[in-house]
Amino acid sequence: MSDPILRYEHVDISYNGMQAVSDISFSVNQGEILGIVGESGSGKSTLIKAAMGLLGDAGLVTRGDIYYKDINLADLSQAEIRKLNGQELGMIFQNSGSAFCPIRTVGAQLYESMTEHKSITKEEFRKRAINVFSKIGFEDGDRILESYPFELSGGMQQRVGIAVALLSNPGIIFADEPTSALDVSVQKQVVDEMLMARNNFGTTIVLVTHNIGVIGAMADKVLVMKDGKMVEYGDTSQVITDPKEEYTRKLMDAVPRLRRA
Ligand SMILES: Nc1ncnc2c1ncn2[C@@H]1O[C@H](COP(=O)(O)OP(=O)(O)O)[C@@H](O)[C@H]1O
Ligand SMILES: [Mg+2]
Repeated sequence: MSDPILRYEHVDISYNGMQAVSDISFSVNQGEILGIVGESGSGKSTLIKAAMGLLGDAGLVTRGDIYYKDINLADLSQAEIRKLNGQELGMIFQNSGSAFCPIRTVGAQLYESMTEHKSITKEEFRKRAINVFSKIGFEDGDRILESYPFELSGGMQQRVGIAVALLSNPGIIFADEPTSALDVSVQKQVVDEMLMARNNFGTTIVLVTHNIGVIGAMADKVLVMKDGKMVEYGDTSQVITDPKEEYTRKLMDAVPRLRRA
């Protein structure tokens, strides 16, 4: 096994001095998908926001270490962490489509955001984008680049959002409720797309969701959160077939399962 690409050690996080998350330890290896699941308010987003530099003015990591490769993110300011965003740390949120400007083509916007980080010709960009699109199941990459955001459905925008996160080849992608705003049929496409990203690019993904069905369909390991604490952590197959906690069983009963393709 390679060294973990992301490692939390005894992490506490507070907002305005009130502890929101306590004593969290886990690790994610290169190419692995870790699912973080738990009811609303259990601290899932807080946990990954700390690694993305997005805790805001009220939030603070008050104890522990968060290693990304050999960088301790807990030692950096949020502004310093955000310099790694886009390049090292990729992100997918619930409504990726809302990040698009409505009056410019998807391709023009993607090209612009890529050239913020590196110089790349339009032709190189186009080739790379179409290659990424095709490897995650889009056959009509050309058409997507020429489209205006309003010409794409919400599900399609979300899938394009994932492609965007992959374009800069980040070391790890954090996805916070990436399927929660989507119809069940489209959820499956988004799950398949993230799996293709991992399989074809070796992308490491930390996936936050309240839907344990999504975890069952794609995560290798799962961390179950309740009231800011971890209540279970282990291989997904083990946690799902033999949950130790009644709480985990309840999360499982609450949602329809998505099957791994
Ligand atoms: N910016 C904030 N300021 C104060 N409290 C917050 C803030 N963000 C989240 N919290 C609190 O931290 C706890 C965990 O929230 P969150 O991480 O968003 O949970 P989840 O993503 O699991 O729904 C909640 O009690 C929430 O109210
Ligand atoms: Mg959340």
